[in-house]
Amino acid sequence: MTLYEIITKKKHNAELSTEEINWVVAGYTCGEIPDYQMSALLMAVCFNSLSDRETADLTMAMARSGDMLSPETGGFNADKHSTGGVGDKITLIAAPIAAACGIFVPKMSGRGLGHTGGTIDKLEAIPNFRTALPYDEFIGTVKKAGFAVASQTGTLVPADKKIYALRNATATVDSIPLICSSIMSKKLATGADGIVLDVKVGDGAFMKTAADAEKLASAMVRVGQLAGRKCSAVLTDMSKPLGMAVGNSLEVIEAIETLKGNVPEDSALREISLTLAAEMLVTAGKGDSEQCFAMAKKALSSGEALERLRQMIELQGGNSRVIEDYSLFGKARYSREVFASESGYLNGIACEETGLTALRLGAGRQTKESDIDPTAGIVFDKTVGDLVSNGERLAVLYSSAECDIDSIAADFVKVFDIGEEKKCGVKKNIIKIIKGY
Ligand code: URA
Repeated sequence: MTLYEIITKKKHNAELSTEEINWVVAGYTCGEIPDYQMSALLMAVCFNSLSDRETADLTMAMARSGDMLSPETGGFNADKHSTGGVGDKITLIAAPIAAACGIFVPKMSGRGLGHTGGTIDKLEAIPNFRTALPYDEFIGTVKKAGFAVASQTGTLVPADKKIYALRNATATVDSIPLICSSIMSKKLATGADGIVLDVKVGDGAFMKTAADAEKLASAMVRVGQLAGRKCSAVLTDMSKPLGMAVGNSLEVIEAIETLKGNVPEDSALREISLTLAAEMLVTAGKGDSEQCFAMAKKALSSGEALERLRQMIELQGGNSRVIEDYSLFGKARYSREVFASESGYLNGIACEETGLTALRLGAGRQTKESDIDPTAGIVFDKTVGDLVSNGERLAVLYSSAECDIDSIAADFVKVFDIGEEKKCGVKKNIIKIIKGY
């Protein structure tokens, strides 16, 4: 077997055998296969795709390239994964809700990527919070609080680390089987019994159309099923920022406010959080979607989910007094208000540009090595569909970094699409649920 032959096969759109796929993943992970040959194969996959069987084989080979965990919590372990969005603080709400309903959520999360935020960066905005936990302590926290959130260890899915970095540098990221294997290898390696995928759709997401999002979601659910996991995917709207806050400490505060019951009942943030928590419960066999949604709602309104969050913060070394006293997060050094320059309906908020603005303010990384400013971000006063008056405040930008906040604020006005006519209609927060259980 040579990589030359395997590249030629894929170039001619022939199916690779399980043995060939295992050989490629093992050879590339240990450095025997050079980057230039792997890049050629990845490009051939981008053009000719992979069959369901090949995608499942690739995912399993990548998952097995490092530790395969099996969390010993003594109960049902569920996991959720978001494909990445703007203002996406769902894990901080859905995980404690699911935990309050009696299942375990051992969650390994990532940092922000490009214009999208990451749960680890958000949690590190809490004073003293630790995300790098020894595995025993991670499981101990899950057993006590029902959930824990830690950063991924270096021994988990090393194949993805290498392949992802190569894809990033060779324009081979946007391939559905490659995205599917990258995400699902990590989920399978962390050993959850139930996996719920939040597949974001729209301008602020990786998948810009519902058709592409559905293809990716179906591929991931199929792989999860083939690996014997209970798996479902929820397609959710990312055509506008999720909730009213974008940026690390600002999003933790909004998640706490949601768990305190202080956000509107019909908000996208609340509906999507409850739906994802409910889906985790469904994978655990707690009932059907409707029954589980009702359970999730009860855990939220009773305050039990908020208590789970408090417990998790304390067990991971954080100062849980932030729940009552938001000033403990620290205050941004600079702020700028942004005002409407005309009256009318707010028909849209450019979502990817909002994420990029938060990044420029310091909420994300411009380079891999950049530090995060936990105070940086945006709080909106208005949301899509609202009527606004000329001169009314639309948002406040925050930063402690030495960025040019005045020009960032001047540019930010352009993200708001205001018109005399209401054009935005009512967008569904939950576009579709693909069930694989
Ligand atoms: N997130 C991942 O983990 N991998 C991808 O390929 C894309 C998004």
